[in-house]
Amino acid sequence: MGKLEGRVAVVTGAGQGIGLAVAKAYVAEGAKVAMVDKRPEIVDIAAELGEGFRGYVCDVSQRADVESLAHDVQLDLGPIGVLVNNAGITRPAMLWKMTDEQWDSVINVHLKGTWLCTQTVIPQMREAGWGRIINVTSSAGINGTIGQANYASAKGGILALTRSAARELAGFGIIVNAIAPAAATPMTEKIRTDERFVETYLERMMIKRWAEPEEIAPTFVFLASEDTSYMTGQVLSVDGGSVVVR
Ligand SMILES: NC(=O)c1ccc[n+]([C@@H]2O[C@H](COP(=O)([O-])OP(=O)(O)OC[C@H]3O[C@@H](n4cnc5c(N)ncnc54)[C@H](O)[C@@H]3O)[C@@H](O)[C@H]2O)c1
Repeated sequence: MGKLEGRVAVVTGAGQGIGLAVAKAYVAEGAKVAMVDKRPEIVDIAAELGEGFRGYVCDVSQRADVESLAHDVQLDLGPIGVLVNNAGITRPAMLWKMTDEQWDSVINVHLKGTWLCTQTVIPQMREAGWGRIINVTSSAGINGTIGQANYASAKGGILALTRSAARELAGFGIIVNAIAPAAATPMTEKIRTDERFVETYLERMMIKRWAEPEEIAPTFVFLASEDTSYMTGQVLSVDGGSVVVR
């Protein structure tokens, strides 16, 4: 029997990269997965993957989209037990050159999106007395970074949101943790291939390579499972040893 047998999971940003790998890993463990993305292709991507997958078009930064999503998933698949707040974008710029649009769009998708999706699924999880919320943060949110103060601020905010949600929701059987990953995905293509960044990023990693998204997915399975019944408000770095607590 799979670790997520009978669970309904929502994975945001599931059209590619880490979210896609997580959706596949969840279905392999017995879950039904609502694959959420702002790109309409998500419906076909899920349909092609077959049984256990269903695609939903939703911009996680828009309240009306997120409320419709929670309603539709409950009707189609059943009450949501697992939420993975994974959708993300980057809009790099040094902070003294950053525009309002660059700042707002990144904060809205990551931080507001994580808050909105969390708020919206709480009633379904409370009703069941069981829930797992997994937020995706980043080493940038822990250590800071150069050229992406918007992204680092959003990810740092997600850490604080994770801990606050964990405190508020523990009494309802809802467990909230975060992952700080590093993986070869479309999001990281530039820093993995542009000579100006390649060495800097690899230097930080104890394991001197980028992970495939499939290597990150098992930690998402763990955090969605019964195995985390006594663990909440934590962040796990699955990043080749980039973040080290000194
Ligand atoms: N890849 C890494 O090394 C790395 C490192 C640290 C953190 N992360 C985080 O992991 C998560 C996944 O990253 P990835 O590398 O797979 O990224 P990715 O760019 O490959 O995929 C992100 C997905 O999110 C979707 N998306 C973007 N905005 C959305 C919105 N408003 N609503 C719904 N969907 C939206 C995109 O369409 C895309 O399918 C992100 O939160 C990212 O910040 C990634």
